[in-house]
Amino acid sequence: MIKYIGSKRTLVPLITQAITRLPVDSVCDMFAGTTRVGQGLRSAGLFVHSNDLATYSEVLGIAYIEADESLDRVRIGELLEHLDQIKPEHGYFTETFCVQSRFFQPANGMKVDAIRDEIERLDLTRVEKAVLLVSLMEAADRVDSTCGLQMAYVKKWAARSFNPLELRMPAAIHGPPGKVTRVDANELAATLGDVDCSYIDPPYNQHSYFSNYHIWESLIRWDRPEHYGVACKRIDCRTTKSAYNRKREAWDAFAGLIREVTTPWMVVSFSNEGYHEQEAIESLLSESRHVRCIATDFKRYVGAQIGIHNPDGERVGEVSHLRNKELLFLAGPDPVTLDLALRGLEGMGEQLLPV
Ligand SMILES: C[S@@+](CC[C@H](N)C(=O)[O-])C[C@H]1O[C@@H](n2cnc3c(N)ncnc32)[C@H](O)[C@@H]1O
Repeated sequence: MIKYIGSKRTLVPLITQAITRLPVDSVCDMFAGTTRVGQGLRSAGLFVHSNDLATYSEVLGIAYIEADESLDRVRIGELLEHLDQIKPEHGYFTETFCVQSRFFQPANGMKVDAIRDEIERLDLTRVEKAVLLVSLMEAADRVDSTCGLQMAYVKKWAARSFNPLELRMPAAIHGPPGKVTRVDANELAATLGDVDCSYIDPPYNQHSYFSNYHIWESLIRWDRPEHYGVACKRIDCRTTKSAYNRKREAWDAFAGLIREVTTPWMVVSFSNEGYHEQEAIESLLSESRHVRCIATDFKRYVGAQIGIHNPDGERVGEVSHLRNKELLFLAGPDPVTLDLALRGLEGMGEQLLPV
């Protein structure tokens, strides 16, 4: 699975437990990112609708949330072997991300170029194509030379970047096959009539996901965009901005979404490093539902663990703290059900904090 700022990797068991303790059969993961939460929910037997604006999240969703037993994994294995044998080529990816910038070693960039072009030439179903793209993206992620964000690469090659790019079969997630969309969550909110619960994990500060993961966006779209700056960001990073990343607009976007969402149950994640105060979120959710909140001790994103770097990628300091508090709000029509759900979570141990 790719490195992703704000990923709920370590919280998936808790979020899954919380949602499965509510009387729900279906969930919309409205800001799905890596789709990790959706994978946990699908494995727990729920129908999952996975949504995000990012094209790379859409292919992750098709591979992990939508793909079912009808996917011929023997054929995928053969296709991966075929792709592994392709002669490396110096194309857009190598030129942009290995020569003009240094996110990957050229030998790996040339493999990415050749494999990505071949995926485009093969006769594939929508799901097969997504599974191969996910395999390639995850392979590239394992040999990148970043701190987990694509705003910058490290000056001295990361040790993992010397490893050869290796395609692996994406895991099969068992559970009911779900559905994937790529639309603005604020537009989706009012259309979830067939879903019992929404899981809401929006961007919580100024960091734009579109810019932070511009390489994955270009790798999946394969549209060879014009680029700018040292990080060779897609030209449309300049114009693709989410209201959730702008301090002045973030509250209206979030409040508008919460007021529109039609699902009876709602689970909302927020970091204490985000723009909004816990009390403000509670009061917003209380307009239409009963609310409970728990907090968890959370390891900060990989870049924070690695330290502070100057633009040349040299380590120049440590971040002030390596952990933060992650808030989880449960909201719905019945307070007793919410209390019972919370009581069940107490058994999950020391990571829960008093709020
Ligand atoms: C905090 S991350 C979600 C992380 C995810 N829960 C995980 O575990 O990987 C927020 C996500 O919101 C997406 N996003 C930003 N604005 C959006 C919008 N208006 N509608 C839908 N998705 C949006 C970003 O692409 C990003 O993947």
